[in-house]
Amino acid sequence: MPAPVVDQAYLKSVEKARRDLRAFIAQKHCAPIMLRLAWHDAGTYDAKTKTGGPNGSIRIEKEYNHSANAGLKIAIEFCEGIKSKYPNLTYADLYQLAGVVAVEVTGGPTIEFVPGRKDSSAVPAEGRLPDAHKGAAHLRDIFYRMGLSDKDIVALSGGHTLGRAHRDRSDFDGSWTHEPLKFDNTYYIELLKGETEGLLQLPTDKCLVEDPAFGPFVEQYAKDEELFFKDYADSHKKLSELGFRSP
Ligand code: HEM
Repeated sequence: MPAPVVDQAYLKSVEKARRDLRAFIAQKHCAPIMLRLAWHDAGTYDAKTKTGGPNGSIRIEKEYNHSANAGLKIAIEFCEGIKSKYPNLTYADLYQLAGVVAVEVTGGPTIEFVPGRKDSSAVPAEGRLPDAHKGAAHLRDIFYRMGLSDKDIVALSGGHTLGRAHRDRSDFDGSWTHEPLKFDNTYYIELLKGETEGLLQLPTDKCLVEDPAFGPFVEQYAKDEELFFKDYADSHKKLSELGFRSP
């Protein structure tokens, strides 16, 4: 399937929205929650039934009320301000653009953004996103369902270099690194150090070090930030395009 074609007016809105998002995210320090919004819209994808995925459906109350999405209403409302300026943009594209810009403005890699996603009002069943209390087998169930690989799992988990957990949203608390507004490879460096007073590691983060297939990626990314940035950008682009066009 070729990439969906969008017209010049649409491309112009994408570029304007990108600039607005850069300024907004920098000013509000909201990169982490914008990245999480993009990931939670995309991460419901089921490759077998071709349902879920980056299709804007997280804007619908029933979906943002799923327990995994606690707190994301804030990011949906932030995006509403941009949407009202560029009504021709789909929510699906806007949320993925916000995710790409969040990584970029916090010092992470540039992720290629291809517009053309369609909005859907079909809300996937609750339970498609990963459960932080579980381990490697669960991560594989969830990410393989999306059509993603072990390497994608480890690279994308590096998204936790940004932001923090909030007791009232997930029952976890704290940030993964000492600089949660900087996108870098310290998530992996901290993981290899083991538990550190004042920093968070979810069971699904810790299992990356212990698993024989995940572990070597953690070690490489801790040593080589350039490699992490390259692999992260590839995996993020894949996540942002699930069900959108063939790889
Ligand atoms: C936050 C779980 C993968 C990006 C969180 C939180 C949990 C969680 C429990 C805390 C939410 C809160 O209390 O506010 C997981 C699990 C994953 C996963 C189990 C499975 C691998 C990812 C991926 C990305 C990502 C793939 C992006 C590429 C984030 C960000 C935050 C976050 C940026 C911080 C949000 C904020 O500061 O408001 N995640 N996550 N996560 N997650 Fe993940």
